[in-house]
Amino acid sequence: MSEVFEPNREFSRQARIKNMCEYKELTHQVNDDYEGYWDKLAKEKIDWFEPYDKVLDESDAPFYKWFINGKLNVTHQCIGRHLKNRKNKAAIIWEGEDGSRRIITYLLLYYRVNRFANLLKNRFGIKKGDRVVLYMPMIPEAAFAMLACAKIGAIHSVVFGGFSAEALRDRIIDADAKLVITADGAYRRGTPYLLKPIVDTALESGCECCENVLVVKRNFEDIDMIEGRDHIYNDLIKNESQHCDPEPMDSEDPLFLLYTSGSTGKPKGVQHSSAGYILWAQYTMENVFDVKENDTFWCTADVGWITGHTYIVYGPLAMGATTIMYEGVPLYPDAGRWWNMIEELRVNQFYTAPTAIRLLHKVGADQPGKYDLSSLKVLGTVGEPINPDAWMWYYNEIGGGKCSIVDTWWQTETGGHMISPLPGATPIKPGSATFPLPGIKAEIIDEEGNPTPVGEKGLLCITKPWPSMIRTIWGDPQRFVKSYFGDCKKDGKPVYFSGDGAMYDEDGYITITGRTDDVINVSGHRLGTAEIENVVAHNDNVAEVAIVGKPDDIKGESLFAYVVTKTDIEADLLKKEINQLIVKDIGPIAKIDALLLVPGLPKTRSGKIMRRLLRTIAKSEDITQDISTLEDPSIIIKIEKLFKGE
Ligand code: WTA
Repeated sequence: MSEVFEPNREFSRQARIKNMCEYKELTHQVNDDYEGYWDKLAKEKIDWFEPYDKVLDESDAPFYKWFINGKLNVTHQCIGRHLKNRKNKAAIIWEGEDGSRRIITYLLLYYRVNRFANLLKNRFGIKKGDRVVLYMPMIPEAAFAMLACAKIGAIHSVVFGGFSAEALRDRIIDADAKLVITADGAYRRGTPYLLKPIVDTALESGCECCENVLVVKRNFEDIDMIEGRDHIYNDLIKNESQHCDPEPMDSEDPLFLLYTSGSTGKPKGVQHSSAGYILWAQYTMENVFDVKENDTFWCTADVGWITGHTYIVYGPLAMGATTIMYEGVPLYPDAGRWWNMIEELRVNQFYTAPTAIRLLHKVGADQPGKYDLSSLKVLGTVGEPINPDAWMWYYNEIGGGKCSIVDTWWQTETGGHMISPLPGATPIKPGSATFPLPGIKAEIIDEEGNPTPVGEKGLLCITKPWPSMIRTIWGDPQRFVKSYFGDCKKDGKPVYFSGDGAMYDEDGYITITGRTDDVINVSGHRLGTAEIENVVAHNDNVAEVAIVGKPDDIKGESLFAYVVTKTDIEADLLKKEINQLIVKDIGPIAKIDALLLVPGLPKTRSGKIMRRLLRTIAKSEDITQDISTLEDPSIIIKIEKLFKGE
């Protein structure tokens, strides 16, 4: 049984949810009156332009709708309503990798976003419902651009700056985007890098929908500009008025799309709503991080991922907090960078990924001791399971043994946290995300909805709709239903299946055991193996390929490829060629770590690749599964021998 760490008493006394009795009381309220619970929250938290007339509409399930006919604008929730009491409060504190800082108050943010919104409207004709793709580095203008879209009702789709031109192109085309907003480049590891040329390549073919490119100057490196198509933000923005009325948006109007990997085919454009999403962003900021008026909150994610959307931009701003945005890498100029920033900015809540914790532990174990980290109150992790070693280091060395670690389980599709400790209430166990948040019905079940016994892996499902849930997959509602509501049922009704496995321990604590599908989590980045395999198959030497996750000390998992070749190319050379293809078609985050040439892949008689066996070998575990159903069981023995170098 793992050790239990009680919340810090002093912290609990001032926390919003102070103990497990209060947590249980809230969950009882939810059980007694599900809609009533959300109704109260939505009325309390959101500054509505017009009230809604119904909390939840289930008539078209699983296309659930929330807060029917309510009108709001997310930027009013995040900026406008704070002007009365917080106009000179820092909304965003940005730090460049070179140490330069920009502090943007709520009033300045208001003006920036208004000007930006006017620019989109007046200069580029962007209207409510139009899609705008953002391909941005970590600069405040990325947040301004997201909020400017929200102000006028345009739907933003941020594409992570590490994706390649091809990946960017696919997303621009799928979203049918009218405009791309980018930057000349930014700085990483002390050197400038460029983004605009990648946009140029992406737009070379097939992106007729995209009429204009707006370029924010960040590092002032030389870039090509296409006359008539490309425009410099820094020149144009000055001409726009700093007043702009927010577009009244329906609760269900989409706020953004965010592409994420699934187990099959191309990435899915996860569509989020306006009201339900912002409500949950704010609610989780308040309860999971317990952020207070004078706190400084730092989430180290990139705005290109959902964590950056909800916990750098929308969540902190919705509650009127101060959010930190950092441009660079954690190791620049050394592994003390983040701890130095915590000391200087007196950060109170710090939220990062296990992979970063493992890296900083490995390369800079002595660094935290050099800094004063006493301002910290809550530590968070997200994106992948955290191993107890990394957890203990984080708890003791960063949190000084006095901060709760909120191990938050959630997904792009859930919009915000679903399962997490509450820092003032939940006794925590290393490696466990503990319990569902009040309001969330997360259950570990089998496909028919029967609860899984303690200590046994089951499927992690959310058995009731929640406000910030994915609304659909952009342009593919059938895929939405099939991907999320096709696998599990409860009481005969399809329920949301997350794709993750999980189990309960004897105290009812939930531990996430990882994906049950062909999605791999590399450094907390979600990658679909099918997508990568499709790219690898384009190499002329490759006859067949299967990619699986292999445990990795720092990244959590790394990509391991089993390849059957048509030629006698050497493994090292093939790996190099394959990685070049991957970098071109997806981006460096999807590079394979290792490759094994094999004579064939283990397949069932119906031709399905038995990936489970390949995963077992990659983990250096013994095969205990039944291999008699394989078309050629000897293959697996051969692969195992090759893996062991025999
Ligand atoms: C994994 C990131 C274990 C999980 C917010 C999920 C986690 C996927 C945790 C979503 C956690 C996220 N413990 N695993 N605390 N949080 N995951 O969409 O497999 O990028 O399905 O969203 O990350 O990744 P996504």
